[in-house]
Amino acid sequence: MNPVVDDAGAPVLVVSCSLNPASRSHALAVAAGEALGALGARHELLDLREWDLPICDGKACYDHPSIGPVTGKVDAAAAILIASPVYNYDLNAAVKNFVELTGQAWAEKPVGFLCAAGGQRSYMSPIGLANSLMFDFRCHIVPRYVYATKDDFTPRQEPGPELARRIRQLAEAATDLAAALRWAADRRTQAV
Ligand SMILES: Cc1cc2nc3c(=O)[nH]c(=O)nc-3n(C[C@H](O)[C@H](O)[C@H](O)COP(=O)(O)O)c2cc1C
Repeated sequence: MNPVVDDAGAPVLVVSCSLNPASRSHALAVAAGEALGALGARHELLDLREWDLPICDGKACYDHPSIGPVTGKVDAAAAILIASPVYNYDLNAAVKNFVELTGQAWAEKPVGFLCAAGGQRSYMSPIGLANSLMFDFRCHIVPRYVYATKDDFTPRQEPGPELARRIRQLAEAATDLAAALRWAADRRTQAV
């Protein structure tokens, strides 16, 4: 079935959360951007390595000059794909900090996950952040998830064919969900 691409809508924001210069989850983020492009979906990559973000203190951090621009990108997104490493059976601290800094901009957004992990046993590790996004910000979690370990990548650290297929499926699911939610929002607006 062809994916539903809402090309009149806002871009899908792919947030690359690893701070490691040789990151595998960054390769997932790049591949997700390519998959979105192949679908004809507008997208933007936000690489946390390129942003000087403060640690959230719940107060002065919000005055930092980077907060306005990154919050604006989250706010403007039709959907957000989080590409993150798994650290200590969770996503890394950088993505948690990013969510703390950008807060309410996540409200009602569809959110999908792509994770790079060291082994198979941390498969459920994004559930804490997913729950927080659902309960704090009423995010819609894309019911498809990409989890990858070293064996899923080629020797050049690119996603292998099976991993690339799963990334394409996530891109389709995220754009479908974004389009469906936009349709519902438009319908509500017309009804009033
Ligand atoms: C501090 C730290 C904690 C980690 N914890 C886990 C873990 O709980 N489960 C796991 O499967 N891999 C774990 N790993 C391995 C990373 O998930 C793996 O190296 C992954 O490729 C990191 O993503 P990145 O390459 O995008 O930085 C950990 C690595 C580090 C550095």
